[in-house]
Amino acid sequence: MSDLRDVPIIQFGVGGVGRALLRQILETRAVVARRTGLRLRHFGLVEWKGYVADSNGLPDELLQAALALPRGESSLSGLPGAQPKAGHGEDRTLLDRLHQQGVRGAIVVDVTAAHGLEQLWLHATGLGYGVVLSNKRPLTASLETFRALEASGRLRHECTVGAALPVISTLRTLLDTGDEVLSIEGCFSGTLGYLTSALDDGMPFSSAVAEAKRLGYTEPDPREDLGGVDVARKALILGRMLGWPLNFEDIALESLYPARMAALTVDEFLQATSELDAEYAQRAQDAQNRGLTLRYVAGLQDGHCRVGLREVSRQSLMGSLRGTDNIVVFRTRRYGDNQIVVAGPGAGLEVTAEGVMGDILDLAREMVYNFP
Ligand SMILES: NC(=O)c1ccc[n+]([C@@H]2O[C@H](COP(=O)([O-])OP(=O)(O)OC[C@H]3O[C@@H](n4cnc5c(N)ncnc54)[C@H](OP(=O)(O)O)[C@@H]3O)[C@@H](O)[C@H]2O)c1
Repeated sequence: MSDLRDVPIIQFGVGGVGRALLRQILETRAVVARRTGLRLRHFGLVEWKGYVADSNGLPDELLQAALALPRGESSLSGLPGAQPKAGHGEDRTLLDRLHQQGVRGAIVVDVTAAHGLEQLWLHATGLGYGVVLSNKRPLTASLETFRALEASGRLRHECTVGAALPVISTLRTLLDTGDEVLSIEGCFSGTLGYLTSALDDGMPFSSAVAEAKRLGYTEPDPREDLGGVDVARKALILGRMLGWPLNFEDIALESLYPARMAALTVDEFLQATSELDAEYAQRAQDAQNRGLTLRYVAGLQDGHCRVGLREVSRQSLMGSLRGTDNIVVFRTRRYGDNQIVVAGPGAGLEVTAEGVMGDILDLAREMVYNFP
């Protein structure tokens, strides 16, 4: 064990993915050490309203205690040594303090769903820290920050598109090896995959939305899924990786509900979805009459991103997708008439945490090599 290399972790977010990550790190220490020579050690756990941090590392007992806290304990105040925090300004102070106290080569992990953290992550790279994100929002804010984070060489974000499916790493390899990516298209939302499969089966739109919500496939407010914003954010990340100078407004986005329903409460909205039943039944029927089926597709080609409902062949990869799985299809110059297909579960706490841990290990090895 003496020649193990410690990798300090400062984790932001102790929600669903954050807890699964903590648990996996605790449970897999021996196998990770044997296979990689690395020992992942938490130096900070940061939530919305509080944190625990120690420049000597946090003991495993404290991480276990964090796992035992009730969900939504955003101040972590049940943990020994927990400090309250008022806002993001204190996050920066915390990173600076740990750095001043000698914590080097740390990996900061963002498994929050927070907006506005991108400058903090840029600051972290300036301290020589790596950044691993499952949170898409820091990469869909300003183009300038996205490019600065990418250029740092200290960023990993596999789980921002298709959870732990190897979408980002595949694209990175294509780009790093000088292939030319001609197009990317796919179904990036399990929720909308479920919904379009249900429409195809003849279920009314309103019932499909209600059932998706009941099954826990939607956000508490289903409009967050139905508006396509989450899919558009994923497409924006891929487009920016391709080097396109895109901002969110540049994406042609089709929402599955009209603007007049935006101001309703969630309950009012769920009631109002029945007004859309006839329209979606007609669209599904029209597609079936042509031997096609509806899918909610993100497409990137020639510098443009489109996100919305599309009729696709039933025999196509996207058309044969059922349920909540995701699919991403890359066409490139070298692959020619063939295509690269990445498919499987695009959500789930355990798989997402596994993807985040994979990113941490990958980045830790690269940082040792590039920035010893
Ligand atoms: N779940 C999946 O299958 C999946 C898959 C791929 C990617 N992701 C992404 O991974 C991230 C986490 O997902 P999740 O399902 O774990 O969400 P979650 O259960 O809502 O957890 C997010 C946690 O972050 C905390 N938080 C919010 N703002 C914070 C801040 N500024 N600083 C520190 N902590 C903060 C939240 O506290 P409060 O509850 O008090 O706000 C919550 O505990 C999201 O960005 C999500 O889009 C999730």
